[in-house]
Amino acid sequence: MDNNIGQEFIEKTKYKYLDESDQEKELPQPPLEMEYDKDKILIDLPSIEDIKVKDISLREAIKSRRSLRKYADKALTIEELSYLLWCTQGVMKITSRPATLRNVPSAGARHSFETYLLINKVEGIRPGLYRYLAIEHKLIEVNMEANIAERVTESCGNQIFIKNSAVTFIWSTVIYRMKWRYGERGYRYIHLDAGHVCQNLYLASQSIDSGVCAIAAFDDDEINKLLNLDGEEQFVVYLATVGKKNIL
Ligand SMILES: Cc1cc2nc3c(=O)[nH]c(=O)nc-3n(C[C@H](O)[C@H](O)[C@H](O)COP(=O)(O)O)c2cc1C
Repeated sequence: MDNNIGQEFIEKTKYKYLDESDQEKELPQPPLEMEYDKDKILIDLPSIEDIKVKDISLREAIKSRRSLRKYADKALTIEELSYLLWCTQGVMKITSRPATLRNVPSAGARHSFETYLLINKVEGIRPGLYRYLAIEHKLIEVNMEANIAERVTESCGNQIFIKNSAVTFIWSTVIYRMKWRYGERGYRYIHLDAGHVCQNLYLASQSIDSGVCAIAAFDDDEINKLLNLDGEEQFVVYLATVGKKNIL
């Protein structure tokens, strides 16, 4: 790795170097959500109003949060998965701009993420790789190969708790959604956005007796290939496993 590339990136993406953005040039805004195959069957997720979770305080959730890498051999319910998706990327409103307002902040409400899920153990959902359609609050199948869990695990340096998790969240960015407004500086903002998303997952999991482990050690090319992402316009930024706690 070039020893100075990080420092050069920070220098050249300073706020003072912001050029006229594509937004200011009045180029069309990219879609709020990536296209999906309309012929495919979508999986409905339970509506958030109908989901009850343990009523723990924010203080308790913050205090009890720890990265967890050993999980009980127990499935999440589809309600619990729906709740976690809502907490991390749930769309509250589409404004007139249009922009999505979600349960996490995002620089300029650009919300560049598309969430993929490696589902291993969720009641009523066949194991496989899925994409979350945030606006629809539904899932769509992406890759149902039997060994997909092994392949995702291998692409993350064989961190075995991925294979043992109930579900692993994989956050990718459609970078132009951010660049349209912020140009090259947008590459900084997606990583800030990702932190908010993952922290919500950590905290929300406390109310469903589950634990989370963030993952940034992954082979970018390998995981992008698995998800069928080109690695430039769309690429994986961050992952996090979720699994039930071993209650003693
Ligand atoms: C950006 C980031 C990347 C991380 N990547 C990994 C990872 O690849 N593998 C892993 O086991 N833990 C990873 N972690 C978890 C950290 O090791 C963990 O947060 C740290 O040891 C502190 O423990 P705590 O979360 O229980 O407080 C990551 C955490 C963050 C915030």
